[in-house]
Amino acid sequence: MEKKKIALITGGSRGIGLALTKKLVNEKYEVWATCRDEGEEIKNCGAQPLYLDLNQVEEIPGFINKIINQITHLDLLIHNAALSATHIDLTQKQKNLEFGKLEFSGLEKMIRINSIVPVLLTQSLTSVLKNAHNPKVLMLSSRKGALSLVNKGGNYGYKGSKALLNMWSLLLAEDLRSDGICVCSVNPGHVRTAMGGEDAPLSTEESADHLYELIEEISMKNSGQLLHTNGQKHPY
Ligand SMILES: NC(=O)c1ccc[n+]([C@@H]2O[C@H](COP(=O)([O-])OP(=O)(O)OC[C@H]3O[C@@H](n4cnc5c(N)ncnc54)[C@H](OP(=O)(O)O)[C@@H]3O)[C@@H](O)[C@H]2O)c1
Repeated sequence: MEKKKIALITGGSRGIGLALTKKLVNEKYEVWATCRDEGEEIKNCGAQPLYLDLNQVEEIPGFINKIINQITHLDLLIHNAALSATHIDLTQKQKNLEFGKLEFSGLEKMIRINSIVPVLLTQSLTSVLKNAHNPKVLMLSSRKGALSLVNKGGNYGYKGSKALLNMWSLLLAEDLRSDGICVCSVNPGHVRTAMGGEDAPLSTEESADHLYELIEEISMKNSGQLLHTNGQKHPY
């Protein structure tokens, strides 16, 4: 009998992460979704909430033990949770946004959550990914992380963290190639969330549908690519 597909997504409490959690449950995945609240929304759609604050790196080993004790394989790992400059209070914002006001703490927090933790989680989950049939790791990146598209200054923390995530996705793709684990980054487009703002053209449901189609389509031949949701290559 075919094993039920299992997915783990970070930041499943709202935005693109919640819509993707719902979509994957509807597509018959067993879904584990991380959150920093009680996870009511996640439970309501039939997924399993798991507490994780990506800023608390010391909590990662405990989190990994918890999940590894409950699953035998992992088909899909989606690194969705992220912090943008618009999320945080003005003092923090200036520390990672504006040249002249940049500080170590603001930049470090952004890079820790958006780039370092996805790599460490992937590394710790390699054993269960290897047990799946066609394991895939998807990084939610952004056009703001594309070096070739930079045309103005500012937003150091977010843009820098996504550029680093793109580089580390490439390295992960190479390190995990011999294990048959596909690693891709995707720009989800401009989506109506707290991060994307209310004027963005895409709803979270539309975004989740596009991302699901991409997940179904990608295979080892795409590993190491940065993609648009329609499967075309996105410039680095
Ligand atoms: N929306 C867009 O237009 C757009 C465009 C390009 C790329 N993206 C990317 O798409 C992904 C999802 O974005 P979104 O628009 O859905 O964002 P969002 O609505 O702002 O949601 C962000 C998610 O990240 C989680 N998160 C933030 N800091 C965290 C932390 N320290 N620990 C654990 N979880 C944390 C939040 O959890 P809490 O609820 O606990 O805060 C929330 O679930 C991100 O990687 C983003 O960079 C979005």
